[in-house]
Amino acid sequence: MSKVSCSLPDPQLLEGAKAAFKQAYAPYSRFRVGAALRTSDGRVFFGANVENASYGLGRCAEQSAVQAMATAGAREFTEIVVYSEATPPASPCGACRQILFEFSPEARVVCVNQHGDVVSGRVAEFLPHGFRLEQRDDGHEVGTL
Ligand code: THU
Repeated sequence: MSKVSCSLPDPQLLEGAKAAFKQAYAPYSRFRVGAALRTSDGRVFFGANVENASYGLGRCAEQSAVQAMATAGAREFTEIVVYSEATPPASPCGACRQILFEFSPEARVVCVNQHGDVVSGRVAEFLPHGFRLEQRDDGHEVGTL
């Protein structure tokens, strides 16, 4: 993770991630997370973590934001801001890194907390060697790096 650095978040995404954070449903962990992303065509989508009494069914904020984006027909984002009240700021879990990688390996990830601490980097820096499927000439799908 040596390439992960500390560049500032897009202010509109930061405000959106904070607003989403307030909507998080986290009665079990009591750990709220909000996310906001901007698509390549300029739209903004939000996500919050949504937990469940059946614990394994909980959804992370980042995944919720990607679901909102994809449901609206967008397929690429340039930046995602993840807001939590943790020090250092919470960074996407392994599953979310793969979910972000599916759509935008080059997007910026900016993790921020209430003190303004920042951890940032490209999706592909958070998830080296992420998994992709590509269509071969013979129609088969192959995993690639
Ligand atoms: N969580 C997120 O939503 N995003 C992260 O980046 C880390 C963890 C959520 C999942 C769960 O609802 C709570 O935080 C505690 O793990």
